[in-house]
Amino acid sequence: MRNIDEHTITAAFVQRLDACTDPRLKQVLTALVTHLHDFAREVRLTEAEWMQGIEFLTATGQKCDARRQEFILLSDTLGLSMLTVAMNQATPPGATEATVFGPFHTDDAPEHGQGDDIAAGAPGETLFVDVTVSSEDGTPLAGAEVDIWQADAAGLYDVQYEGLQERRARALMRTDAQGRLRFRSIVPTAYPVPTDGPVGQVLRASGRHPWRPAHVHFLIRAEGHRALITHLFREGDPYLDSDVVFGVRSSLVVAMPRHEPGTAPDGSVQGQPFHTLTHRFVLARLG
Ligand code: BEZ
Ligand code: FE
Repeated sequence: MRNIDEHTITAAFVQRLDACTDPRLKQVLTALVTHLHDFAREVRLTEAEWMQGIEFLTATGQKCDARRQEFILLSDTLGLSMLTVAMNQATPPGATEATVFGPFHTDDAPEHGQGDDIAAGAPGETLFVDVTVSSEDGTPLAGAEVDIWQADAAGLYDVQYEGLQERRARALMRTDAQGRLRFRSIVPTAYPVPTDGPVGQVLRASGRHPWRPAHVHFLIRAEGHRALITHLFREGDPYLDSDVVFGVRSSLVVAMPRHEPGTAPDGSVQGQPFHTLTHRFVLARLG
């Protein structure tokens, strides 16, 4: 095929896939390139803009290393990550909704027991957490594995502190016989996603703020149930309706009330104000 022009190039591309034996790859490539060509035609993409796009993607790749994944951040801020979660993790009515995983999970969270202080020195006001994990029919899920991670009062995860080796404000725990999990941590605060790379440039250029509303991450696994990746967001946060990664679901917004110094839920006497959080997670059954 010769003399391809702006009107025939998309069909020409699709024809080149005739020999592709993987039907899913063929479907995905056809749709991807059709939309890409339509996009270029719709905005009448200039050569300078094409080059700017290439330079942006190059810089995005160059910003990635073992600790930083700028492409995922790009996907997050474009809403693609949340769209993929929404399509693939739709939950049955009553089950807890999923949201984005984010880049700050680690595989080496310290194991903690019931009642432990998982903050491990991370700065912030104390938060007493009391959650239960149950199945769709209300059966408590004993021995469910719960992975927890969150930012501190400075809006930073432990892994964002240069030179900090310890794991703070993260834990791996198991629910008790009643499906219950109690621990002590710190109240989460809102934080901006990293803006020192190409994604930050795009956010600034497009007049967008980089903030995520305050939240605690949970990854919950229980036998016979779908793994749940979710957050609990702090009620009242000013960014709940403009989360930079589009991750907020109303069902995940919970109260974390502040209490004056006094007796805490675990019976300890607190000399400083503290917060409490109670919630019930419901896991969808497999199959
Ligand atoms: C997070 O919640 O940890 C997160 C999610 C997406 C992008 C950046 C951070
Ligand atoms: Fe987070």
